[in-house]
Amino acid sequence: MLEQTLPRIALLATGGTIAGTQVQANSAGYKAGALPIGHLVDAVPGLSNLARIQAEQVANIGSQNMSHDVWGALAARIADLSRQEDIKGIVVVHGTDTLEETAYFLSLVTHTDKPLVLVGAMRPATALGAEGPANLYNAVALAVSAQARGRGPLVVMNEDIHYAREVQKIASMGICAFASPNRGRAGVVRGGEPRFYSRNTTRHTLDSEFSLSALQAAHWPRVDIVYAHAGMDGLLIDALAGHAAGIVLAGVGGGNTTDSALSALSRAAAAGVAVVRSSRTGSGPVDRGGEVDDDAMNFVAAGELSPQKARVLLMLALSVGRDPAQWQRCFEQY
Ligand code: SIN
Repeated sequence: MLEQTLPRIALLATGGTIAGTQVQANSAGYKAGALPIGHLVDAVPGLSNLARIQAEQVANIGSQNMSHDVWGALAARIADLSRQEDIKGIVVVHGTDTLEETAYFLSLVTHTDKPLVLVGAMRPATALGAEGPANLYNAVALAVSAQARGRGPLVVMNEDIHYAREVQKIASMGICAFASPNRGRAGVVRGGEPRFYSRNTTRHTLDSEFSLSALQAAHWPRVDIVYAHAGMDGLLIDALAGHAAGIVLAGVGGGNTTDSALSALSRAAAAGVAVVRSSRTGSGPVDRGGEVDDDAMNFVAAGELSPQKARVLLMLALSVGRDPAQWQRCFEQY
């Protein structure tokens, strides 16, 4: 295809191991987010046959340092780019540690049906067998594909395509580190050829009621996660209740915890803190009224959302309303 007729894709780089240097991500001296985006693009053979790439560095950090400020800058830039007629799709290059949180956040605040793909790598760019170039190639191929339109942000790792709401990092090492444990992966992309297996049925992007501007106007309501364990008491929850607008319980099993921690959560809810019960297990739903009397305690059940995604949704739910029934509806729809 002639260079001028290739689709234009915007690449927004934020750092991560895909831009990291060292033989392995656990070697001494390892640094995520060390290489500029131009270096990563140059390392992908055949990329210039897929698209005209317009690359920008939004940040260059390890994604453990991903912040609300960078999220705001990223979402605002995606909004600008998605309004530009000549931009056919957007790829976000990201560290893998918080990639799922960014993907889910973007699924709720970006209002576009253009392909939006997030990609990272488990091996640093300078490692033997670095998979970043193949992931980036597949991500750009997906971003130019009409099949990717209207699906909200997609995550490409290790030839798998995941929906933003479903994807989770499930391993700290190795290239098979991403899965969609509740509903399965969205599809695969091999050698740049995407194949979808399913549609996502929850609300996102054009169908989302949330916005970056409302979140910023609400000053990113503070939501903390407390992790349940045997012998948990209410100390941490009582301490948080004076500071947080919302608390997400990463509960045992179906979103449960000790009687004393439940009492502390109930006190927090009575004081106006939004309390959401999720599960630390990694998959499966937390059903309303299942193990805990949510009606009596004024709690919200997180459904299938992981604690870290429940935190994102609760922040956004708090930015549009103060009614626990409305928060619960959000957890049933997004
Ligand atoms: C990061 O999340 O930035 C570091 C780890 C990785 O990208 O795999």
